[in-house]
Amino acid sequence: MYVVKSPLPDADLKTVSEALQGALVDLVDLSLVAKQIHWNVVGPRFRSVHLQLDEVVDSARRHSDTVAERASTLGVSPDGRVATVAQSSGIGAVSGGWVKDTDAVGALVDALGAVIARMRDRVGATGEPDPVSQDIFIGITADLEKHHWMFQAENG
Ligand SMILES: [Fe+2]
Repeated sequence: MYVVKSPLPDADLKTVSEALQGALVDLVDLSLVAKQIHWNVVGPRFRSVHLQLDEVVDSARRHSDTVAERASTLGVSPDGRVATVAQSSGIGAVSGGWVKDTDAVGALVDALGAVIARMRDRVGATGEPDPVSQDIFIGITADLEKHHWMFQAENG
C-alpha cells in the first residue's frame, strides 16, 4: 500500500530506505543496550556511568525518531518492531546481570563503535541519491562519535 508519494526515483529510494531502516534498528537497540547497562552498572564509578548512559539513551531515542520519520516522509514504512531489531541490529548481544563499571564503559565503546561504522557507511551510500537523508546521517554520526569519545576517554 502506497500512501505517501516519494520524491525519489525507485532505485534511489531503495538505497536510502535500506540505510534509514538499518539506522532505525541500530538506534533502537543502542537505546535498549544503554538502558540495560544503566540499570545494571555497579562499582565505584556507578553514578557517573549511570548518568552518562541516560545521555546515550536520550540521543539514541531522538535519532531513532528522526530516521523513522524521514523514512515515512519518503513514503517508506519504518519497522521498529522488537523482532526486527533483534534480527538486524549491528550491536552484539550484551550479557545479563550486573555489569562492573569498567566493563560498562567498554561495552558502550564497542556498541557505539559498531553503530558509528555502519552510520558512516550510510553517509557514503546516501550522498548521491538523497543528500537530505545524508545530512541526517552526518548529524547523527557526529553526535554518536562525541559519545564514543567520552566513553573511550574514561577508560584511558
Ligand atoms: Fe534511570
